[in-house]
Amino acid sequence: MTVQKGRVTLVGAGPGDPELLTMKAIKAITSAEVLVYDRLVSKPILEIAPDSATRISVGKAPGRHSVRQEEINGLLVHLAATGKHVVRLKGGDPFIFGRGCEEIETLVSHGIPYAVVPGITAAQGCAAAAGVPLTHRALARSVRYVTGHCRDDEPLELDWSGLADTGTTLVVYMGHATVRQFTANLVAHGRPADTPVLCISQGTTPSERRLYARLGSLPDELAKASLPAPVLYIVGAVVDVGRALAEAGGRRLETQVVSAG
Ligand SMILES: C[S@@+](CC[C@H](N)C(=O)[O-])C[C@H]1O[C@@H](n2cnc3c(N)ncnc32)[C@H](O)[C@@H]1O
Repeated sequence: MTVQKGRVTLVGAGPGDPELLTMKAIKAITSAEVLVYDRLVSKPILEIAPDSATRISVGKAPGRHSVRQEEINGLLVHLAATGKHVVRLKGGDPFIFGRGCEEIETLVSHGIPYAVVPGITAAQGCAAAAGVPLTHRALARSVRYVTGHCRDDEPLELDWSGLADTGTTLVVYMGHATVRQFTANLVAHGRPADTPVLCISQGTTPSERRLYARLGSLPDELAKASLPAPVLYIVGAVVDVGRALAEAGGRRLETQVVSAG
């Protein structure tokens, strides 16, 4: 008797809107026997999987500890060893601030077949939803994605002088806890305090909210707005372009503009 070897498909679920899934992602999800998913994966996406698929949440929910990365790696190996098709669903793209590579390395070290399906990362999804061009021939010739996450009590170490370049659009993921640090550092390194910033909460979902602010006053504006997670920050002149387009009425208007910075 041959023992069927399982496999793992690492799937990027995009920023929330199920219509932003790729066809490959839909194909993988609909053929899943087990789904291992993060907190950022939206409910409508989980519903695409067959009823028969086992659903395992490994995301951090309020009041509950998240499952450690090593445990997730072990879980994927264990599930694949049962011969099942395991779909590992991650928000956005698995290789953008998603620790997807660590999971793949574990699978490779156990000889488990895997595939990776890219997803639309939050920067792309949120910018498009708000009409913000991340690059612009006259305003931004480069775009940089950075993480605002750092260990407790440790300073945020980033290339501040590079990020202060006014010709670069900056997208900050996981910036909630360090918003005072990153705004102060950018201004201290020469990014003007009146640089436009767009904060997008729960982008591309029906509860998306947007806060337009300026770099220097962002932390105070944000404290007043109390946007629910996840929140993405887009910094740069291109924000004003998106805002002008939105206000001109040429784009979707169903999302709420909560504050004018
Ligand atoms: C751990 S990172 C995961 C990023 C993901 N792999 C991606 O490619 O988008 C989580 C951060 O992504 C951002 N994010 C993800 N989805 C978002 C959404 N729908 N709206 C706003 N920000 C989002 C937030 O900054 C959040 O703190």
